[in-house]
Amino acid sequence: MRPAGSWLHVVPLLSAITTISQAVELPLPVKLVHQFPAPAYLNSIYVRPNGDIYVTTVWPDASIYSVSGANTDTPKASLVHTFDEINVATSITETEPGVLAFLGGNQSSIGVGIFGTFGVWEIDLRPQAKGGKPTIRYAVPIPDGGLMTGIQALPESPSTVLVSDSLLGLVYKVDTLTGKYEVAIRDEDSMGHPSWTVTPFGINNLRIHNGYLYWTNSYLASVYRVAITKDGYAAPGAKIELVKRLQTIYLDSICLGPGDGDTIWGATNADNRLVAITADGNATFVAGSPTEMTIAGSVAPGFGTLPGDTETLYVATGGSLLFPVNGTITEGGKIVAVNTTGFGVDESKPQEKTQPSITFSPQTTSWMEYLFQFPLKHLSLFRS
Ligand SMILES: *[C@@H]1O[C@H](CO)[C@@H](O)[C@H](O)[C@H]1NC(C)=O
Ligand SMILES: *[C@@H]1O[C@H](CO)[C@@H](O)[C@H](O)[C@H]1NC(C)=O
Ligand SMILES: *[C@@H]1O[C@H](CO)[C@@H](O)[C@H](O)[C@H]1NC(C)=O
Ligand SMILES: *[C@@H]1O[C@H](CO)[C@@H](O)[C@H](O)[C@H]1NC(C)=O
Repeated sequence: MRPAGSWLHVVPLLSAITTISQAVELPLPVKLVHQFPAPAYLNSIYVRPNGDIYVTTVWPDASIYSVSGANTDTPKASLVHTFDEINVATSITETEPGVLAFLGGNQSSIGVGIFGTFGVWEIDLRPQAKGGKPTIRYAVPIPDGGLMTGIQALPESPSTVLVSDSLLGLVYKVDTLTGKYEVAIRDEDSMGHPSWTVTPFGINNLRIHNGYLYWTNSYLASVYRVAITKDGYAAPGAKIELVKRLQTIYLDSICLGPGDGDTIWGATNADNRLVAITADGNATFVAGSPTEMTIAGSVAPGFGTLPGDTETLYVATGGSLLFPVNGTITEGGKIVAVNTTGFGVDESKPQEKTQPSITFSPQTTSWMEYLFQFPLKHLSLFRS
């Protein structure tokens, strides 16, 4: 564990990056913000407008932690709550100031949800201002759903959230105030799980950005989007677009930015990297490496929100629990800050690397057997 505070340039090894008069040096500078004791698999990140970072865990239990002062030399991490009623908290957002909505349920092992146990939970932080404890509410059970992975508040009516169901391959619209929910968008091709995955895991996280809903389909290593109405439905006549299919074996969560910028930042998890996809569709690996712990098991990125920190990308990790680095090395999940300043400002952008140096150990652990069952024929596709 590296002490927080010093920006670190991980210099060698990123042979996967081809730089052509890029304005900024790659890899981007990274800095450890906080590492949790092992085992801790962080699954999502939400940065509040006040700069506090909230992360959820899916292993060894369902917990929510907060980290304040992430942009200072003395970040402070606190356990907000560990849940007894559920064992996985997959994704979190904010529905009104101080009220966080998150997805929770039960899984039988990492990534294998128990049908009918998922729904939208709420944790109200406002009592903390008066020295009290946050209050917790199971806001909207969704008994006819499977493993739910992504949650996003509608920008114009944030008490309503869109929720992805990775098992059923669809997106619900959920009103956290009335408890009503319905299927908003369903698309087998982009949201369903590919036929060759043994684990039925399709659509992963969601982001709403500049009028579009973006999502990842993890095993397809793909990003899709569709224009949506302010009510969270696909806009009339809007078609689902494949934004990018990466040449990686997995793509976990994405975010877009900084600000209104359209660069997509993706955590690749299985090969421990952060990828940036620019609006022209070019993909560049900007941090991490298959053989390093820098962002081992990178799961979810989110931009800082405070002045001076809006180009800092906070990346939550799972400590490579699912894909141990070099086959055996894991660590506690952590939050790493990546300084994206200057990326993509140069006209001549880096070229896409067509043959990423992915190392994949066929050695399996029980978790891997559940979540990452890649038939070798598919792996070889990506190795070309
Ligand atoms: C999750 O599992 C726990 C322990 O078995 C059980 O008490 C709880 O009711 C389950 N939660 C849901 C939402 O089904
Ligand atoms: C993984 O193996 C490579 C090649 O042997 C080595 O350079 C690297 O340091 C190893 N990674 C870790 C985290 O030990
Ligand atoms: C990020 O890098 C830029 C350019 O090197 C620097 O000016 C800025 O202070 C850095 N941001 C943080 C939050 O350290
Ligand atoms: C995107 O990548 C392609 C192929 O590598 C390259 O020809 C093109 O110039 C790149 N675009 C930009 C804006 O750099």
